[in-house]
Amino acid sequence: MALVRLVYYSRNRLGPDRDAVADQMADILAHSIAKNRLHGITGAMIVDRNWIVQVLEGRQAAVTATYDRIAADPRHSDIVLADTRATDERRFPLWWMAGAAIEPDMDDLVRRWCEDGDFDPSRLSPRRLVDLTEAVVAAYMERSPAPPRRRAGAPRPHA
Ligand SMILES: Cc1cc2nc3c(=O)[nH]c(=O)nc-3n(C[C@H](O)[C@H](O)[C@H](O)COP(=O)(O)O)c2cc1C
Repeated sequence: MALVRLVYYSRNRLGPDRDAVADQMADILAHSIAKNRLHGITGAMIVDRNWIVQVLEGRQAAVTATYDRIAADPRHSDIVLADTRATDERRFPLWWMAGAAIEPDMDDLVRRWCEDGDFDPSRLSPRRLVDLTEAVVAAYMERSPAPPRRRAGAPRPHA
């Protein structure tokens, strides 16, 4: 099956504080998982106070249509499509949509990608954006489990 992987970044407008962001993220993830499942889309999104990075993978038409909807969403702004490229395999085969927050104690991890330790997706190549997204999701999932509503996207039943 011909697949594409798209990565974009945007300005986080999810809310004024951590709790608001967490609630919005939970809503977005629940909606995304339900929709992406129908369209064969997998991926992940990471957020910090300022930024959102999201990876979408699936068939070209489904990914483009989903991205167009996401790009029109007022819960973020200044969206930059960093890359769309053909790929043989999914990087997030287990997730209809995983979600993770870049927590303050992930400094070391962020510093591996961003020299001055400041998370700024506009200074990263598309490839590094995807790698960082994967690393943050992995680090986030390793932490103590969050309460169900805060939890990231459910695994795909048939990976
Ligand atoms: C940062 C962000 C990421 C999103 N990711 C997805 C996604 O992966 N899939 C999806 O269907 N909707 C996603 N959404 C929601 C869409 O922007 C849009 O609100 C929703 O698809 C509209 O769905 P409706 O037409 O069913 O109302 C996302 C929204 C935001 C702000």
